[in-house]
Amino acid sequence: MSIKLDDKYLKGFVREHELSELAPMVKAAHDTLAAKNGPGSDFLGWVDLPVDYDKAEFERIKAAATKIKNDSKVLIVIGIGGSYLGARAAIEALKSTLYNSLKKDTPEIYFIGNSISPTYLNEVISLVDGRDFSVNIISKSGTTTEPALAFRVFRDLLVERYGEDGAKGRIYATTDKARGTLKELSDKMGYETFVIPDDVGGRFSVLTAVGLLPIACAGCDIDALMKGAAAAREEYSECDLDKNACYKYAALRNILYTKGKSVEMLISYENSFAMMAEWFKQLYGESEGKDGKGLYPSSAVFSTDLHSLGQFVQDGSRVMFETVIQFAEPQKEFFLKDDPSNVDGLNFLSNQNMSIVNRKAFEGTVIAHTEGGVPNIVLELPKLDEFELGYIIYFFEKACAISGYLLGVNPFDQPGVESYKKNMFALLGKPGYESARAELEAKLGI
Ligand code: PA5
Repeated sequence: MSIKLDDKYLKGFVREHELSELAPMVKAAHDTLAAKNGPGSDFLGWVDLPVDYDKAEFERIKAAATKIKNDSKVLIVIGIGGSYLGARAAIEALKSTLYNSLKKDTPEIYFIGNSISPTYLNEVISLVDGRDFSVNIISKSGTTTEPALAFRVFRDLLVERYGEDGAKGRIYATTDKARGTLKELSDKMGYETFVIPDDVGGRFSVLTAVGLLPIACAGCDIDALMKGAAAAREEYSECDLDKNACYKYAALRNILYTKGKSVEMLISYENSFAMMAEWFKQLYGESEGKDGKGLYPSSAVFSTDLHSLGQFVQDGSRVMFETVIQFAEPQKEFFLKDDPSNVDGLNFLSNQNMSIVNRKAFEGTVIAHTEGGVPNIVLELPKLDEFELGYIIYFFEKACAISGYLLGVNPFDQPGVESYKKNMFALLGKPGYESARAELEAKLGI
């Protein structure tokens, strides 16, 4: 069992009988998911993906990663939302938040098309100046504005630098297998393409080519990543709350929600996990935040954020609970030296392992916060490597599906994401949106 769920910090917040009372509903959610007859059941490709994936494409991904490593100093990854967060999160978790600045034999990787900021666009353009680069454009629909704009810019840069033919060999398109503008363009231009399966939604797509190509380019072991996810799929296939930590987590967060704890903070004590928390926020926010319901997913890195949000968590509105990710073994150790002068008064920590200091920060905090009225669920993993990351990705995906069904929503759609787009297109004068424009301009007073 790779993830140990520690519920001892829920004492006084959740009673044993509440979990057993919810068990039949968890069983119903499990059966719905297994029978593929619930809302959004067209999007369950992620369930068996860790074992049922295109093995030939998987080898092509590894070959493309080797080619990019050999011919490029920089890889530009273009995508947004589910076509962005998972890859970046995995690379930062497995390599470092400082990946691009570290000495390595793999390309620097910059993510763009995840905003419309002209400042950031200019900055990334300057990073490829005089350096060989390749582009991985990722878009399931192939029509999302942010990545489409960035792709237009970087495609032009590639053509300017390498000519049409040279550019062709440096563009990798991850998109729908048959439909969309990006697929059409790729076929016309002869770009190498990778497939986002029809039945895998954006936020569940990190273990497809969406995540796998950039992750492999960073030098991570994508075989181990898939093996970890496959182990979790196996582990969480039985519906028994005593044995299934994934389902227990889903049930506990729903119990806490019904008690007014409507904000979940995903906490870790590792900087490198910060982007995984961003991935988690999209997964749960987009899956559950609908029909006027849902837990608001948020995150923090401790002890960093104890010096900013700590006051609120300890003492502010009692609306949140914390889910803390702990790793038994740090990725790297650091031992503090002894200083005979002890000018800083820190000799009580001489020869101490920094990971123990971090552990004590966690232990002190979990007690302080629970005593302050914030329930804590602790998820402990042995370490943070490719296998464990694949495992936790699957854990959160499956818990999200079960949790969404417990909440009574369709966890696999995202109708709300369209509203801002319609307004933006109308205001920008996109053909077909004329009638909404005047109304919006009147509201804005322009
Ligand atoms: O989860 C989702 O569906 C979204 O976040 C999408 O991934 C995001 O909007 C990008 O869409 P696309 O891949 O079609 O460009």
